[in-house]
Amino acid sequence: MAESVFCDGFLWGGATAANQYEGAWDVDGKGVSIPDICTGGSATVSKRITPEFEEGTLYPSHEAVDFYHHYEEDIALFAEMGFKVFRMSVNWSRIFPTGMEEEPNEAGLAFYDRVFDCCRAHGIEPLVTISHYEMPYALVERCNGWEGRECIEHFMRYARSLLDRFNGKVKYWLTFNEINTGTRVPGMSSSLGTIKGYTGARSDLPDLPAVRFQALHHQFVASAEVVCYAHAAYPDVLVGNMALFAPMYPLTCDPHDMLLSQSEMHMLNWFCSDVQVRGSYPGYIKRYFSENGIEIAMEPQDEQILREGTVDFFTFSYYMSCCVSADPAKQADKTGGNVFGGVRNPFLKASEWGWQVDPEGLRWSLNEIWDRYQLPIMIVENGLGAKDVVEEDGSIHDQYRIDYLRSHIQQMEEAVKDGVNLIGYTPWGCIDLVSASTGEMRKRYGFIYVDKHDDGTGTLARSRKDSFYWYKKVIESNGADLS
Ligand code: BG6
Repeated sequence: MAESVFCDGFLWGGATAANQYEGAWDVDGKGVSIPDICTGGSATVSKRITPEFEEGTLYPSHEAVDFYHHYEEDIALFAEMGFKVFRMSVNWSRIFPTGMEEEPNEAGLAFYDRVFDCCRAHGIEPLVTISHYEMPYALVERCNGWEGRECIEHFMRYARSLLDRFNGKVKYWLTFNEINTGTRVPGMSSSLGTIKGYTGARSDLPDLPAVRFQALHHQFVASAEVVCYAHAAYPDVLVGNMALFAPMYPLTCDPHDMLLSQSEMHMLNWFCSDVQVRGSYPGYIKRYFSENGIEIAMEPQDEQILREGTVDFFTFSYYMSCCVSADPAKQADKTGGNVFGGVRNPFLKASEWGWQVDPEGLRWSLNEIWDRYQLPIMIVENGLGAKDVVEEDGSIHDQYRIDYLRSHIQQMEEAVKDGVNLIGYTPWGCIDLVSASTGEMRKRYGFIYVDKHDDGTGTLARSRKDSFYWYKKVIESNGADLS
């Protein structure tokens, strides 16, 4: 076996998000969050947003896979695989049910105390996202969510209560999951969650770029304020950004394709990170705003807050890459993707859900990010959504998942040899959970299978897939044994 190229103490683990995992949507004082009013969907049928609950309709977040009542069992399974780190998020409406209370909900805080204590008892470091694609729905009614400037102060009350309460238990925090999805057309559902008063298919939410970018500005300020607060109050705490990273390859070497690739890279992959890492709005986005009639309302102190609140480490999700083409005739050949797709790459195969699998793109991305920012990097999501088959004896032979992860870890190795300072890897959905884009259960990512199905049935029993034993070996060998 070759020697490991990964640093000692490399943070191997897995990632989840509260609204897709916890369930217990109305337990112990929790309020209604945006995902709680979203129905299920599929690859072809959009989830729907129904502020009024419909009798007889299934809302996948309500039970999800019930981490709330299974956390001890799940964390013990993560420990059995050898996890060093566990990425999870806190459900905002568990702590502030409407987002506007003056004091946090003690029962909500106590739940996360139990979870973090359990992680620590197993020697697992929690990596906690403060906001992962959810917010109390009451804030949408109040101020259209992040479009309203007042959302910053509600969020800060929430973030401060987490940092204060969990000081000593949580060292690594991430502010907003995939913050840069707010730059794309589906950003109204990812960045904002929904729009005040909207009922209907999530895919039909109207796109309002001025609202999206204003919301994003408020998130930038909130994120930077968290960094400033954490640094002042808790010097041992580290705060990272979290971006969706997807290479935007030029389809050809036509200079027009090259320029388009660069501007798509700017908009999708660099703009938000440039603000969060470098502390100011880059020139290319100012040009875009002025040419597209977008004016961001800023307070006089915002620029200073952004400058002072730059992150300590860089994290991102990586699933796929896309191509771009300046030639309208070639733009029709589309591929799908998480949050958005692009032009199909003839050299790549795609998953069943149409996401193009591109391990080499991960090495490329790691090098690009490292060259630009020189900050420690963690890959906090990566993986293959696939249907699993449970054999008669209960075993699950998910060789396709092992192959996907192996090929990506091999490219991580190459990137480390290239000199990239990679410090952690938490594959997505280390235990099966609800799909963010479709609300399905059948789209599984886990090393651990959960007996839960799209129609809401299932015992919630957990079992180990083949990939569970494989990943255990990977962690034990610090990434040297990928066989
Ligand atoms: C990322 C999100 O975009 O992709 C996760 O941060 C999500 O919340 C993951 O679950 C995988 O996407 P999906 O739609 O397959 O669940």
